[in-house]
Parts: sequence; structure tokens; C-alpha cells
Amino acid sequence: LRVAVLASGRGSNLQALIVARDAGQLPVDFALVGSDKANAGALQLAKDAGIPTFTLNPKDFANRRDFDLELFRQLDASGADVLVLAGFMRVIDGEALKPWVGRMINIHPSLLPKYRGLHTHRRALEAGDVEHGASVHYVTAELDGGPVIAQATIDIRPGDDELQLAQRLLSFEHQLLPAVLRLIAEGRLSLLPPDRVALDGEP
Ligand code: GRF
Repeated sequence: LRVAVLASGRGSNLQALIVARDAGQLPVDFALVGSDKANAGALQLAKDAGIPTFTLNPKDFANRRDFDLELFRQLDASGADVLVLAGFMRVIDGEALKPWVGRMINIHPSLLPKYRGLHTHRRALEAGDVEHGASVHYVTAELDGGPVIAQATIDIRPGDDELQLAQRLLSFEHQLLPAVLRLIAEGRLSLLPPDRVALDGEP
């Protein structure tokens, strides 16, 4: 399976995928890593691992649609079968992503459907939640709204602040994302349109 990854930030989830691949636990090839930020740590991690990279600067495009069309042109050209959003902090145009529905996943740091969008850790704390977590879901036109594949849940501890919570969750994200991608690489996971996830053919 050829995998492309998009990331805007430090890239620890990308790194977790590379580590799992190197350990023989993730049967994929990384076709390409792309970013909207030239200084994203994820790009350096990719280069260090010998993975081709590209950056698109949103300022070079007239609008979101044009940016996304170029994004997917590059992803198509890479020959990637599957696309992983690992901290890609841009909304993607619903029309542009349509050809990738069912082969594009995102990791989001909340127990979806709770807390779509930004500041998920803060919002969980402010709500007084006792649990928090991360979700991997298929990407659809609805932001953070596609069918959930798997979640990791952690307890919120008394005295947790936003940073502590984010950091504790991160190590679970690093297990969750490779585990889901492995299921995809093994051909065990699929999206039954419009919104059902099937494991081994069973919804
Ligand atoms: C993670 O918390 C991920 O869930 C969210 O963005 C963050 C990316 O972190 N979508 P990293 O760049 O993978 O370290």
C-alpha cells in the first residue's frame, strides 16, 4: 500500500507511522509527505526518512479550491493509494476531496462527535469531562464529521491542564493511527457509503 501523509506541524504522528513501518508492524510505503507550512517539523522527519516531500503555500493560490486542486494533483501524481491527515490544519474543499472518500483518514484529538474543530483539550476541560480521547475517522466533506473508525480514551485527571492532557493523549494517538493504517494496509477496513465502517466485511 502506498501512503501519502499531509501534516502542518511537528509531525509526531507521522513519526509514529515511520517507526511502525521500520519495526515491520506497518506494511506500507510512504509515497509522499506534503505540508502547507514550509517549516513543518513533519517535512524534516520525512526527509530524514528518505520520503519525498512537497510544500504548497496557501498565499500562492487565489482561493481554497485552487489550492486543494493542486494538492490533490500532486497526491495523485505520487501514486498514493491512501491519504493520511496527521495534523493537517486546513479545511479541505468538499468537492476536491470527493475522489478520495473511503481512502483518506484523519486523526482528531477528541472523542468525536464531541469537539470538532480546534482547542479540543481546552474544551474537554472546560466542559468538566472525566474522559477525553482521540479518534481516527474517514474524511468526508463534513469537517471532523466523517465516520469514526477507532478511538483511544483516557481519563482526565484532577489538575490536568491543556498541555498535560494534550501530551498524555499524544502517546495514545501514536498507537491508534498506525493500528488503523495497518488494518487498511491489510485490506480489512472499508467505508460502506454513506457512513458505515466495515471491519473484515462486517459493518
Ligand atoms: C495531533 O494532536 C493530532 O491529533 C491533531 O494535530 C496534532 C498533530 O500533532 N490533528 P503532530 O504534528 O502529529 O505531532
